[in-house]
Amino acid sequence: MFVAFEGGDGAGKSTQVRLLADRLRTVGQRVLTTREPGGTPVGERLRDLVLEPGDAVVDPRTEALIFAAARAAHVEQVIRPALTAGRAVVTDRYVDSSVAYQGAGRGLGIADVEAINAWATGALHPDLTVLLDVEPEAGRDRRADRAAEDRMEAESDDFHRLIRLTFLQRAAADPVRYLVLDATLPVATIARRVAERVLTLADGPLPALSEAGTAAAPVAEERADVILVPESVAEHR
Ligand code: TYD
Repeated sequence: MFVAFEGGDGAGKSTQVRLLADRLRTVGQRVLTTREPGGTPVGERLRDLVLEPGDAVVDPRTEALIFAAARAAHVEQVIRPALTAGRAVVTDRYVDSSVAYQGAGRGLGIADVEAINAWATGALHPDLTVLLDVEPEAGRDRRADRAAEDRMEAESDDFHRLIRLTFLQRAAADPVRYLVLDATLPVATIARRVAERVLTLADGPLPALSEAGTAAAPVAEERADVILVPESVAEHR
């Protein structure tokens, strides 16, 4: 099982990655937690290069390729081997971050950024992406140390609004593969909802799911926090 957490800066992803891993371990799963950019020695160096470049100029295309390069290493050296060994993998950020930040935020285009990432990852997709949705202002307030902002965090609220919208649009288009949760909910509530959904994934679909037979569009309050799965998808699992 491969689960990715996505969301704006300050959404609380790293806490939820840890809590999900703890929960999965309690049901006997072997779990690997990791993060992007990073997760490998070369990825950590690329992370420093792209987020704290010093005097180096990082233009948008270079930025997109650095993130994709770090991800290629991550998939090849860490994620695929772990999945092959039967471990659950939980990552803090994955392809959707590039689509949102570089594709939308930097204006490189969603399709192009998807394409380079499909190549970089050998088209490895998460089974579930959890989007912790946060308004840019709230995310900024939740970040502890504004003086330590990286290049992305230092971008304008408009930039971060576009990122948020892009994440939400992707999730709304595919409620089966996404779970959207309000990042301002209590930590324990988020953790419980994530665990419920992920454990459903691990056990296969609940009987009620295939009976329903239709995928529900995200609803206003719970958004994509829906567990209705079309029969075709249920069979696929
Ligand atoms: P992260 O370490 O998750 O920051 P935070 O913990 O503050 O959320 O990610 C670092 C930054 O890199 C974050 O602002 C998002 C950005 N980023 C991209 O722009 N593209 C990418 O592909 C990834 C993985 C991250």
